Amino acid sequence: MSEIEPTEQTQTKTDAGSAQPLQTTSGESEEQLHEEWIDYRFDGETKLAVETLDVHYGDDHALKDVSMEIPEKSVTALIGPSGCGKSTYLRCLNRMNDRIKSARVDGSVQLDGEEIYQDGVDLVELRKRVGMVFQSPNPFPKSIRENISYGPRKHGDIDTSLLARLSGRSDEEAEERLVKRSLKQAALWDEVNERLDDNALGLSGGQQQRLCIARALATDPEVLLMDEPASALDPIATSKIEELIHELSREYTVVIVTHNMQQAERISDQTAVFLTGGKLVEYGDTDQIFESPRSQRVEDYINGKFG
Ligand SMILES: Nc1ncnc2c1ncn2[C@@H]1O[C@H](COP(=O)(O)OP(=O)(O)OP(=O)(O)O)[C@@H](O)[C@H]1O
Ligand SMILES: [Mg+2]
Repeated sequence: MSEIEPTEQTQTKTDAGSAQPLQTTSGESEEQLHEEWIDYRFDGETKLAVETLDVHYGDDHALKDVSMEIPEKSVTALIGPSGCGKSTYLRCLNRMNDRIKSARVDGSVQLDGEEIYQDGVDLVELRKRVGMVFQSPNPFPKSIRENISYGPRKHGDIDTSLLARLSGRSDEEAEERLVKRSLKQAALWDEVNERLDDNALGLSGGQQQRLCIARALATDPEVLLMDEPASALDPIATSKIEELIHELSREYTVVIVTHNMQQAERISDQTAVFLTGGKLVEYGDTDQIFESPRSQRVEDYINGKFG
């Protein structure tokens, strides 16, 4: 866990008579607060560095001037009311917004110090490094095994084709190992190991979501983006996914959107609060955000007064 280093601004209060609106719990303007969390320091290395990111859909300005650094091997939660730009932001991190015709992205996102918004970036490779799990489980209508091996096959990492088998270069064993490893990592192996050739659509919702996580892990990503991965699941399946996320953050950088405050509090190390208008209003240690948010609007949001 990391600490916010106090800056001068944390100690200064705006005069009560000032024209500046008092918007934070301690009486600072949101601009001052912005300066402060831009300086948010965490333990560990930066995995993703987002700078002055803006997203437009046509004339609609969905994300405004967002800058934040995401530390590696930890869980970063993104919270905020519906329509504030959380999914838009998440999709910027592996250039998924490129697929949306009306979307225009300005600003910078660096992965391990390398700009992902520049010509010549291999998007297939990028999305292999930065995988994504969506809100509703979306397994392919194929067997459990094929769901896992599809990505690595596509990337040419395993070859079980007839030609490969005939020439004795088949990677069938490698495929078996990969399927087992990924399903174990996603805490699904024990439930499905005897029916790997069954259609994945026959699994329960919670199992399908863990299969989608296993599928994302099969290509050996470094970052896992999750957009409300547990919102369609019952409490037991949800707690399995939460445990899993906690485990995964030992090795992977997890960025998760959730509408569930308790979930964000339970599973994340850092929390970023987006509010209406596509603005990142506060970012810091999860404990600090939930126990003593600096922004009055964030405090109101967390206490359920709006959103
Ligand atoms: N594909 C799109 N085309 C046009 N506008 C979009 C598109 N996707 C999102 N938007 C707009 O961008 C804004 C932010 O949407 P986004 O889906 O990122 O919000 P969100 O915070 O994820 O909301 P929710 O919590 O409901 O999932 C909204 O005004 C939305 O209408
Ligand atoms: Mg969303």
